[in-house]
Parts: sequence; structure tokens; C-alpha cells
Amino acid sequence: MTLRKIIILPDKQLRLVCDPVKEVDDEIRALMDDMLDTMYDAPGVGLAAIQIAVRKRVVVTDAARDDDEKTPLCFANPEITWVSEELAEYEEGCLSIPEFFETVERPARCGVSYLDYDGKPQEMDCDGLLATVIQHEIDHLNGVLFIDHISKLKRDIIVKKFTKAKKRESAA
Ligand code: NI
Repeated sequence: MTLRKIIILPDKQLRLVCDPVKEVDDEIRALMDDMLDTMYDAPGVGLAAIQIAVRKRVVVTDAARDDDEKTPLCFANPEITWVSEELAEYEEGCLSIPEFFETVERPARCGVSYLDYDGKPQEMDCDGLLATVIQHEIDHLNGVLFIDHISKLKRDIIVKKFTKAKKRESAA
């Protein structure tokens, strides 16, 4: 198990469009293992590979509640196949934008197609927290952050705050 460093705003890599995985081989499985360890350690409910500076379309999630059993899921090349008209609001956060939370409205349910840990094609219907998490993580694969779904005013404030913090850090 290896904990990987999570990159944070305003790292430009967070805006990259990630490359599809050719096949789920041992290297991708090792990446998924590291991502799960890193996500649980953080702790978080989802992580995209680009958040550990790997430009691949790989996502891990665990949307189980604190007192429930763990439900780790690994996705290679996940794609949203359908979304419900009904919307749901969640207070979202992101391990790459620490300590910032804001309400985001997204489809309440969605379908996702992907390759699983064994490289098998799968389709899954998601609702509740998992629906939000998988949409948030697939956004990451396309260089989209949850702050892109909030008002420009709030987004500008948070980007400025993180940019200033980064400058202070590099000046220190
Ligand atoms: Ni995120």
C-alpha cells in the first residue's frame, strides 16, 4: 500500500482531460489500490487518478456511511450513460480543494458504464450519495471541478484564496 500525494488547487493538472485506459492490467490495479488507500486515509468518498497527478481515466469511490461496511468501487473509463430529470442537492467538497464545501445540484440518479478491477465491462445504476460522487469524479477526468457548478463569484473567491496560499507557501 502506498499513500500518494494529492494535488490541490490551483495545480493546472486538475484542468487536464485524462486519457482512457487501454486495459485494466496489474499496473492499473496497483494504481487503483493506491488510490483507495489514499482516499481512505484522507478521508474522502471518491478520488480521481488526476488528483494524484496520474492522467488516466480511473476513479475510486466509497459512498458507504461511516457506520456501514466499506463498499470500495473501482472504475476505469467510466462514462455516464443516462441521468434522471430529478435533481438532488449535496454539500460537496473535494480533496483537491480542502476545507471548502458548497451545495451543488446534480441529477439525482445516473447510469455509469466502466471497466471494473478485473477489467470486466460493467453497468451500474447509481442513486443517493454514490450518484453525486460518481458524477463529481467523472467531471475530474474531464478537467471539471465542483466549483465550476457554483456561482462565478464564489468560484473566483475560492480560486483566489488557494492561489494566494500557494504563493505564500512558495515564498516561505
Ligand atoms: Ni473532487
